Amino acid sequence: MMPDAPLFPVRATALAGEIDQLFWTAVGIAGFFSVLIALLLFYFGMRYRRRHPDEVGSSTEHGSKATTALEIGWSVIPLGILIFLFAWGLRIYFDVARPPSDAAEFFVVGKQWMWKVQHPEGRREINELHVPLGRPIKLTMTSEDVIHSFFVPAFRIKQDVLPGRYTTLWFKADRAGSYHLFCAEFCGAEHSRMIGRVVVMEPHDYQSWLAGGPSGPSVVSSGAELFVDRACHTCHRPDSAARAPNLEGLVGRSVRLQDGRTIIADDAYVRESILLPQAKIVAGYQPIMPTFTGQLDEENLIQLISYIKGLGASGTGRGAGSPAPAAAQAGAPQGGMR
Ligand code: CUA
Repeated sequence: MMPDAPLFPVRATALAGEIDQLFWTAVGIAGFFSVLIALLLFYFGMRYRRRHPDEVGSSTEHGSKATTALEIGWSVIPLGILIFLFAWGLRIYFDVARPPSDAAEFFVVGKQWMWKVQHPEGRREINELHVPLGRPIKLTMTSEDVIHSFFVPAFRIKQDVLPGRYTTLWFKADRAGSYHLFCAEFCGAEHSRMIGRVVVMEPHDYQSWLAGGPSGPSVVSSGAELFVDRACHTCHRPDSAARAPNLEGLVGRSVRLQDGRTIIADDAYVRESILLPQAKIVAGYQPIMPTFTGQLDEENLIQLISYIKGLGASGTGRGAGSPAPAAAQAGAPQGGMR
């Protein structure tokens, strides 16, 4: 582990340490060659300076063994250094970009000018994010209005938060404390005040914090309620009376569309199908679904998608037409949220 450098934010994840090592290695290499080149410039300037007014320089022969070796050297050595830095950076990028499969999914909605967070268990907060130490946390983020950017310097992570799309970030904090959260994309008059904090707590402190707050329904059971409330279950059902595709096990599966295309059903597809049902009609179905644009906010959409993701995931064959038992199991660890 590297020592904390002055003027640098503390490191609260293992990944932050690796990112800093790469950063300082790149700075070190650049610094070494900058100094070397400056010194050589000075040395050659002195060594080969003109000594008489009528002195003429001698030309170097191109293609001699010595110059060829020199040219190969100054091409291959920098190439090697750059490939080394690239490969190292790529490995870190893959770590940053791929959340572990056991990460707990939290939801973040950016809005002029605040961060709204929902825990999988249902607890909500604004401009604060409480997380347990040592547990991988995946953030699924979207915006209600303009582009924001979720930036936690102590974790060395930053990701734009876009309207109409889902982006993700993940981290595993290994140091308890309170860390700055910034919006890092200019988003309007009060962008500079769109700040908050991430509080990393010991797991038992986190549990008592969760228990101490107002307890609402979990994200998945809120989604189950909406599913019934908006009468989704009257058409999306597993039995023969279904007028719309059965949603069990949908997310992650490939779907064949009316126009012959095959797509993978991901969060963005489910979101689009709720808001713009006519955009992608599943083969064999009529375009009869009404749009829900303007009737569901981003948090409702997240809840519905989480619920739909959990359908069939527990392997008990619970249908979309029977959301009540699914709502009951939503708080249990085998739900689709973990
Ligand atoms: Cu949100 Cu800047």
